[in-house]
Amino acid sequence: MNSNQSENIFPVFEQIINKEQKERLLKQKAKVIWLTGLSGSGKTTVGAAFERELYKRGFLTQILDGDNIRTGINKNLKFTVEDRLENIRRIAEVTKLFLNCGVITINCFITPTEDIRQIARDIIGAENMIEIYINTPVEVCEQRDIKGLYKKARAGELKNFTGISSPFEKPIHAKLEINTGELSLEESVNKLLKLVLKEISY
Ligand code: ADX
Repeated sequence: MNSNQSENIFPVFEQIINKEQKERLLKQKAKVIWLTGLSGSGKTTVGAAFERELYKRGFLTQILDGDNIRTGINKNLKFTVEDRLENIRRIAEVTKLFLNCGVITINCFITPTEDIRQIARDIIGAENMIEIYINTPVEVCEQRDIKGLYKKARAGELKNFTGISSPFEKPIHAKLEINTGELSLEESVNKLLKLVLKEISY
């Protein structure tokens, strides 16, 4: 946005019923549980099972997931460094809207580099973001290859594929690591519940 445009924009944030009021209504603390990790590491599977457990306990949640978001709001983005930054920037802004509404979000995105994770943290606020590293090794993800993407990447048919031809940096702010190659789904979800329940309970 150039300066002329921003000069003509008048935000009304202070007139809107705020996050604390909505958290009180929903009797929960709105946080994002941000799952980062390779394609096929288990982010969506763990995130979905975790959401079901929160639902049973009366929490209002929303899953945001790479493959879904990239067929909608972000369907014009690819996997270059710039597009991945823009992907996460938009997702972080969307997340902020949910948090302001008191809703807990479970974000399942590769979010491959510390720069990209920092963009999310800056937009959302570090105090609202619980980062979890789904650290299933690339060999296990490639072995699973549920979507056949590792095979395509190895064959050179898919450029910039995370873990093969595009980097994944180990997260430095993760509160928890979960290796779905070693833990069952139930064990993975239990680890998450143990960490997160105290953060989201009103
Ligand atoms: S991110 O790097 O920008 O955070 P995001 O989580 O939105 O990625 O999307 C990842 C999903 O896109 C993967 O689970 C996979 O299904 C699909 N995908 C398609 N091409 C690629 C690629 N080159 N690298 C990684 N994932 C890809």
